[in-house]
Amino acid sequence: MHLWTVFPNLTKIVRKAHVSRKMAHGHDFDHAFAVAQLAQTFWSDSSGQAWVAGICHNADRMIAIDLGKPRGEVPAADVEVLVRSWLDTEPNLSEEEKQIIARAVLNHGRPNEESDDAVTIALKDADRVVNTRLDVIIRSAQFHSEQLVLDPVRLLSGEKVGRYNSRPTVMDALRDCLDWGDFNSPENARFAVRTEKAKWMITEYVAELRAFLEKIVEQRRKEGLVPYPVEFARD
Ligand SMILES: [Fe+2]
Repeated sequence: MHLWTVFPNLTKIVRKAHVSRKMAHGHDFDHAFAVAQLAQTFWSDSSGQAWVAGICHNADRMIAIDLGKPRGEVPAADVEVLVRSWLDTEPNLSEEEKQIIARAVLNHGRPNEESDDAVTIALKDADRVVNTRLDVIIRSAQFHSEQLVLDPVRLLSGEKVGRYNSRPTVMDALRDCLDWGDFNSPENARFAVRTEKAKWMITEYVAELRAFLEKIVEQRRKEGLVPYPVEFARD
């Protein structure tokens, strides 16, 4: 079922909220739409709560834009008010459903919790799977536009340098995405996908991303650039 036809008012108003704020860098309406579609795939309840949570999940980023604050400093109450204003445009959503959806949106960026309900799990899984699609290569390059593409000496080998979200090269940032596929590792458990469909999809997506990164190394090897002269390594 096309859930945007079930929730036409909400879809229209949420799309407008993205466009009016010029949401970009992988957090535009198309991202929310993709997350909604996958969340519904991972938790297909009859009322479409997971889909609605997905379409609404950029609310915190919108408040961050409105307040000119980092996303981590956005008051949860403001996010809830915005999400509520969207949900109230749909007469068929019950009060209980609205609470479940709002909670999922508020918690979607947090680590996994034992207490997460099915809608929250579906939303977290969907966001993580979408973020390992091959378009993450373009998104990452946009996000890290001031950084080097890669370190020609290190490439994919050796220890990771820097911290998550502030790696020195785009290739290092993409390498972090490969960890999403390692959902059985205790190290990654806090942000691992949990539904079976998400595990299946993320395994495939991460394998494709890994193949892309390894192809870069292979091409450079053909050109005689691997190993790279250490004297020309970055200072
Ligand atoms: Fe997202």
